[in-house]
Amino acid sequence: MHPTRLPQTFKVKNFGCQMNVYDGERMTELLIADGLAAADGDDADLVVLNTCHIREKAAEKVYSDIGRLRREDGSVPLIAVAGCVAQAEGEEIMARAPAVRMVVGPQAYHRLPQMLGEALAGRRVTDTDMPSATKFAELPPRRRRSGPTAFLTVQEGCDKFCTYCVVPYTRGAEISRPFGALLDEAQRLVEAGAREITLLGQNVNAWSGEDGRGRPIGLDGLIRALAGLPDLARIRYTTSHPSDMSEGLIAAHAEIAKLMPFLHLPVQSGSDGILKAMNRSHTTESYLRTIERVRAARPDIALSGDFIVGFPGESESDFAQTLKLIDSVGYAQAFSFKFSSRPGTPAAVMDGQIAPEVLDERLKRLQAAINRDQLAFNQGSLGKRCKVLVERRGKRPGQWLGKSPWLQSVHFESAATVGELVEVELTEAGPNSLHARAVELATA
Ligand code: 5AD
Ligand code: SF4
Repeated sequence: MHPTRLPQTFKVKNFGCQMNVYDGERMTELLIADGLAAADGDDADLVVLNTCHIREKAAEKVYSDIGRLRREDGSVPLIAVAGCVAQAEGEEIMARAPAVRMVVGPQAYHRLPQMLGEALAGRRVTDTDMPSATKFAELPPRRRRSGPTAFLTVQEGCDKFCTYCVVPYTRGAEISRPFGALLDEAQRLVEAGAREITLLGQNVNAWSGEDGRGRPIGLDGLIRALAGLPDLARIRYTTSHPSDMSEGLIAAHAEIAKLMPFLHLPVQSGSDGILKAMNRSHTTESYLRTIERVRAARPDIALSGDFIVGFPGESESDFAQTLKLIDSVGYAQAFSFKFSSRPGTPAAVMDGQIAPEVLDERLKRLQAAINRDQLAFNQGSLGKRCKVLVERRGKRPGQWLGKSPWLQSVHFESAATVGELVEVELTEAGPNSLHARAVELATA
């Protein structure tokens, strides 16, 4: 039996990237506006699984998550599957998982309340439309109480079609949200408590729009405008594509104090042959040149990247070139993945698929290189003074945890509170976090 009584409580479970976190927050706001209450525990009347499709086993995970939602008495909550698995495999989910009452894609979730009405009337509903008018205009304008750090999706979708990637299919074509709507939403986030905003987009640096006077601007123009919000202390953005690092955006790193010295710039591989097969529109050399320009603008910038090991056809020498690139950049942190064959993408049917044990072995070597550089970067920060934005309490009494400008996790003791910027001196460095001594309380 499926419940048809009006749900009182709901829970959104997020998987995957930061954009899903943002979408999850917007769904939460929609459902609250619809009269439901957010539940803390696992006993909500409505559960939204906000899924990720980027690498394999994602769909399998969704089915096992659905299975786990069955309660001891055999009943199930109302289940909605949202996110990129919903978009890519909505029909299969409906066929395979009778407990699922709603399937809603990432560009259609503003319709969740109407869908809920239909589900309560006993229908199973799928909405994976990608309307050209964007969902954003239909979401409640008010933002819920925010922690000190908040995400703001400014750009969505991707036209780049890297040969391994599902995003152009699950998130659709690139769209940029309008300047005015973003300024408004940023202002609301600040009013709701945010002191730092991370601008999100699959290709965030491809954002384009028109400023208040109708002049065309890029992401740097948007950042400049947001920097004018008095109570907003910090701005970050992610994820950038190397081919869209404009001069203006690079200059922004030198000129805008609120823009944090951190850049996540995925390269994926250090071999030009593999980059070509991946349909990345940059080479190793053009990537390194971009990094040089960014470092010239902001010498202390912390660099981050994404890597895929074992793309089809990757030889030991291709892989060695990736390690060489890592050596020459000196990343502050990076994410690395084994190539995962995604149905429907060109890479899934390429010759030269790599054996699982080779993938394992290359990932291990790559991660060892990244860990080494991450520790070196953190050790290189010792003795520096910086401001830490307090995010939450640490494990020990009196201890706080916050982020440095370079996105390092920093533990320190102080009489601070969440949302404050505390001046510290970095005193101890590990591979994943640092310790610091509070110097004084700052207000800006
Ligand atoms: N296999 C492995 N990693 C992938 N990524 C995207 N698609 C795949 C795939 N099929 C990685 C890329 C991207 C990050 C978000 O996920 O490194 O930058
Ligand atoms: Fe995927 Fe490439 Fe687009 Fe990034 S740029 S979302 S990796 S297709």
